[in-house]
Parts: sequence; C-alpha cells; structure tokens
Amino acid sequence: MTNRANRLAACALMVAALAYGLPSRAHAQMGASPARPWMDKGASAEVRTQRLLAAMTLDDELRLAFGYFSADAPWKHYRRLPGGIPQSAGYVPGNPRLGVPALTETDAGLGVASQPGEHPNRATALPSGIATAATWDPKLAFTAGRMIGREARDHGFNVMLAGGLDLVRDPRGGRTFEYAGEDPWLAGTMVGAEVRGIQSNHIISTVKHFAFNDQETDRTRLNVEIDPLAGRMSDLLGFEIAIQEAHPGAVMCSYNRVNGIYSCQNPWLLDTILKGSWGYRGFVMSDWGGTHSTIAAANAGLDQDSGYPFDRQPYFGAPLRKAVLEGKVSRARLNDMAGRILYSMFANGLFDYPVRAGEPIDFAADGAASRADAEAGMVLLKNADGVLPLAHSLRSIALIGSHADAGVLAGGGSSRVYPPEGFAVYDKTVPNGPLAYLRSSPLAALSSRTRAHLSYDDGADIRRAAQLATRSEVAIVFAHEWAAEGMDDTGWLDGDQDLLIAAVAKANPHTIVVLETGGPVLMPWLPAVQAVLEAWYPGNRGGEAIARVLTGEVNPSGRLPLTFPRTLEQLPRPVLDGDGKPDGRDGPVAVNYGIEGAAVGYKWFDRRHLEPLFPFGFGLSYTRFTSSDISAHASAGGIAVQFQVRNVGAYAGAYVAQVYVSGPTLAHWPASRRLGAFEKLELRPGESRQVRLQVDPRLLAVHAKGGDGWTISAGEYRVVLAQDEATPVAAVSVRLPAQRLPEMLPVP
Ligand code: GLC
Repeated sequence: MTNRANRLAACALMVAALAYGLPSRAHAQMGASPARPWMDKGASAEVRTQRLLAAMTLDDELRLAFGYFSADAPWKHYRRLPGGIPQSAGYVPGNPRLGVPALTETDAGLGVASQPGEHPNRATALPSGIATAATWDPKLAFTAGRMIGREARDHGFNVMLAGGLDLVRDPRGGRTFEYAGEDPWLAGTMVGAEVRGIQSNHIISTVKHFAFNDQETDRTRLNVEIDPLAGRMSDLLGFEIAIQEAHPGAVMCSYNRVNGIYSCQNPWLLDTILKGSWGYRGFVMSDWGGTHSTIAAANAGLDQDSGYPFDRQPYFGAPLRKAVLEGKVSRARLNDMAGRILYSMFANGLFDYPVRAGEPIDFAADGAASRADAEAGMVLLKNADGVLPLAHSLRSIALIGSHADAGVLAGGGSSRVYPPEGFAVYDKTVPNGPLAYLRSSPLAALSSRTRAHLSYDDGADIRRAAQLATRSEVAIVFAHEWAAEGMDDTGWLDGDQDLLIAAVAKANPHTIVVLETGGPVLMPWLPAVQAVLEAWYPGNRGGEAIARVLTGEVNPSGRLPLTFPRTLEQLPRPVLDGDGKPDGRDGPVAVNYGIEGAAVGYKWFDRRHLEPLFPFGFGLSYTRFTSSDISAHASAGGIAVQFQVRNVGAYAGAYVAQVYVSGPTLAHWPASRRLGAFEKLELRPGESRQVRLQVDPRLLAVHAKGGDGWTISAGEYRVVLAQDEATPVAAVSVRLPAQRLPEMLPVP
C-alpha cells in the first residue's frame, strides 16, 4: 500500500473505531441485569451465546468479525486507536448496548509484547518457546503461561496471541525460537499446557499458525504441498493435541497456502478438519494480513478478520455486510461466526471477569518464574572432564563475546517483549530488527557466584580475545545466532564466531561455549571445546539462569526438542525454498513437504539412517541416572509402561523419561519410531522412583486416509525406554489387537 493509502486507511480506521464505540465508563459497569439474560453465570456458554445472538442485529454480529491493529507502527504509518485503548496488536470494538466487552489482543507466547514504538507495554520476558519446550515439563509450561496471561490481564488485554506450535521441519526456520520443536506429541503437550495456563486468567489464548507455516522465507507467498494423510500425522497432530489439551478460545490461520489455497480460506483446514473432525467450537482469526477475500474466506470457515489495515481491503468490514445482504454469505454463517466468538468469550470468562488496564504487576515474582523456566530448559550438550560445574577453586575466568557483560539475546518480531528494566542493547539498524539484548548480565551474575577473577572481552578482535583466554584458567565464549520473524536463519552462528571459538579453544583447552541461539546451529569447533551449554534465548532473568547452571546452583535438565544436524545436507531441503522477493509482488512459491511427509525431524534422520550432531531428546546432567524393570501392557487402546529410575550420582537433578514406540502399523508408514510418552521427575542422590506412563493410541496408529479416526494394526509393538531418541536403554514388546479409534481421544 502507498503511504497516502496507508494514511487514508488509518483515518478510516479511526472513524470506524469511533463509530463502533470506544471503551467508556459503560464498559466498566457491564454486569448482570434482567434485560441481559446472557449475563446469567449459571447458564452454559452455549445457552448464553444463543441468548445474546437472539438480541443482536446484523450490524452487532458484523462488528465481532472485524478487528483492527492498534499500535504506533511507524514503519507502516499506522497509529494506535484513540480513546485510551492499550497499544496492542489487535482490537475488536465492544458493544455497550449489549454489554459485549471489546477484544483487546496482545502478542504473544513469550510475554506481553509490543510493537517497536515510543511507549511499549512493560512486561516480563519469558525465555523462548523452544526453551520452554526443552524443559519437557508441562507443569512449568502451565506456570509460565499463567504468569504471562496474568500480566496480559493486568495490562488490560483479554486475548493473548500465543500458542505458536508450527512443527520445526527446518531448524533454520526464523520462528523456531517461538515454537516447540519437531515432534507433535511434545509440541502439542507443551503448548497446550502453556495455553491452559494463559486461559486460567479468564482470558482467551490462540494456537497458531494454522497450518504448516514452517518457514519464514516468502511466508505470505508459500504454497505448501503436502499429502493430507502426512499432514494429519505431523503438523496437524500437534495442533489436535494442543487443542484437545487446552481448548484455546481461538485458532489463528496462517499466511501461507496449503495445497494451493490460502490457509485462511481453506475449507479442508478450517471446516473439514478443525471444525469438522475435531469439533472445534471456538473461532478462527486470521493472521495480520492473512485474509485474502470476503466470500471465500467466510464460507471456508474464517470467523474474524484481524489487524486491519494490514489487509489490502477491509474484507470483513463493509464487503462482508454486502455479501450477507446479497446472500453470498448466508445469515446462518454470519450467525455461526458471531456465535463462535461469543462462545469463546463466555467460555473463557471475558464477560464475567472483565479486564482493567493498569493493574499492578509483581515483576520480581514474575521474573523468578521466567528464570525457573530458563534454567529448566537449558541443555548441556557437552561436558568433557566434568569441567562444569565450574570449580570453586578457579582463580581466573575469561568471558568472551555476545555482550556477556551486559545481557542476553532475545528473538525479533511480533513476540518481542519490553521488560521494565529496558534493554542492554537495542539495535534498530539491523534488517528485520530491532535486535535486542535483555538487561541480564551473565558477568554480573557470575561475579556474585565465584571467587575467580572475571575478565570480559567483546570478542570483536579475535587475537585479543585469544590472548585473554591464554591468561585465564577457563574461557567461556558466549556465542549467538539472532533469529526473527519474517526471515530464516543460515544454520550457522552469526558473523565470524566460529573462528572466534576456534581461536579461543586453541589458546585455552578449557574452553566452554554458551549458545544463545533461536535453534540448532552447526558447530565445526565442537571437538576443540570442553563443554557446550545451549541456553537458547533465556528471557529477562537469563543471565542469572546461565550463571546458576554454570556454577552448579542448578543442575541442567533440559532435553533437545529438535534435532541438531551435523550438516545442512542432512536436511530434507538443504537449500530452503523461496527467493525472498518482497511479499505479495509475485506468484506463489512452492515448498514440497512431501519430501519428508510426516517424517519430520528425528523421523527423517531415522528413515535416512543419518547420524545427527545431537539427537532429539538429548541432554546431559551433572548427575547420573539408571533405569530398570521396564514392563508394558495394552491399556486404554494404547500401551501402559512402567519402570524404575534411580539417581546414582552426587547431585540432585531432574530426569526426563522418554518412551519411543514402533510397530507393525508403522512398518509401512515412513515414520518408524515415535515419541510415545515422557515425564520429567526430580530425584535426590540415591533416590529411586517407579514411573508409569501411558502411550496415546494415536502414536501407535495411522490416520484414516481421507476420513476421520485412526487405525492400529494387530501385532507386536516395540516399546523403548530411552535416554534420547538415539540412545535406547531398555525395550519390551507388547501385542496389540487391531483397533479403529475415533478422531479426538480423551486426554490421557
Ligand atoms: C504477525 C504474526 C502473528 C502475530 C500477529 C499480530 O504477523 O505472524 O504471530 O500474532 O502478526 O502481531
């Protein structure tokens, strides 16, 4: 859009918003009254929805289907809406006459985010989504979600655009840091827990981006080609599990096309699967600029057009009214659109617990929750000669690179959170930036936890850094790879950090690398260093979290939620599809997910007999665990597994029990072994515990081709207890009968 068009659109936006009624005192006094039977808290969400719909006019219903972007966005000449609305990604005006609250929508899965502008919302920054997934602890994910959801509420937001769980089909995906890895069971379970935590604050959360938005290059032009069955058993299975676990109030459809049709007007995705097979009762909102029509989108299952003026036209504004009046979108369909939105609002408490901006936030307590998440998600990848935890006797330690004296890296894009303490580094010159380091210094945190003399070098001069390493007993290189929405990574560390690490390791054999990355990176220097800790983007208490793990205050317990490849040639697409031309100017860019189909991540490596650098589920500890006495039997359509785990080392620590399954059903299915169940448990030195896990039947089955439900073939199924996907510890076989399973199974 031209600048003039943008300004005109922005003016139209303000006029429209004023016409629709901005927040006022009336909103704050919304509450039950005889004239409003829908405010009866004793009635079900369904009944309340029907009562309210009965009182609505055509325009009342239309008002719900059209959302605005309400933030200062200089790069698009957008201005936030007048009337005191919190600066936010989305705004759907309320309806004072009927007591319908406005929808105030904030990003995202890492905390209350803000657009880069003068007055951002101040909030606690969680570690990245991949870090939370690396905790393999749904309870921690729930706690993290509950915390950011409460901060959203305290800012006056009643919708949180979180729940990113597109599978990591390529580790270079620019939003890998926001997502939950490569396995549908782990991703669906972890994101489902976080979304449940967010919604526990009586606000709506989303899951996104539905579906197959698995790379950023040309994200609005991609046409994802994938066999429907393979889709159901990979990306869509992750969404099914998260939706079943958390009942998110909304699902956000994605920018890309799937098999030729934009996701936000794709009947197969929105109607056949989401609302049909899965019986989803909430509403589908578009991504910002993801709507491309009025009639096709409404009739395919899109319920709300988000973020105007990101779209080329106000598709669900006046054009939708015209389409309904002309019968091209039925009144019943509009009723369904409005009904789904109202149902989610009733079901999640938006009417009964209206949010109010300006509530106090306990940033100390919330920062502690962020730090706990970061610590539990850090993955110890190498620890030769037990160089970690750092010895108390050390007298000199060099810290090198990545602003380790001042802060820790955060990812870029709509998920960026602006903590109350601001940033240590905020570089607006970076393409797709700003690039930000959160103000949480590993150097400061370490200095209060060691008697050693600490020196810092920024790593800009490799020779100088190597000289400092020579003069120190231990050298710790903090290495970064910055990732951001809207662009994919290279798979390598930024700049010449590989050379820096190699030079430091040559200068000092006791070299440790701390990675601050959005996802996997290649490590040509790995043999030369003694230890590697993957810290991901560790949130606004990340410097402390890193120091507590390095010094042994915390025993690292993270496990990889995705495979680290040895080379890019091992990947299904060694060169990412797409040409990176400006979005929207040219035709669709084909990306063929049929290469790997449902064999995403470790399943691809297994199928191709490839050895990764680090396998899915990998992670070391400062202590050691043994497991024994595994047994398993058919149960509830799946398999029940039990075994003993003992901590045989000197440190307390957390063990991640992982069970992988394979069997005849899978023999002819490309994906051989699959994660069937997992549990994280804390054990003191010497403590042992019996673990009982239940394998969800869908992980033993193949989805019905072209229809609903799952099929398990009769035969022997192998159940493997493993340290990680590539390291079996014990195995048993279980005989299962042939079974047909319904689509949506009760959550085990
Ligand atoms: C962005 C993202 C989406 C975000 C939305 C609102 O383009 O794709 O994740 O929630 O717009 O900022």
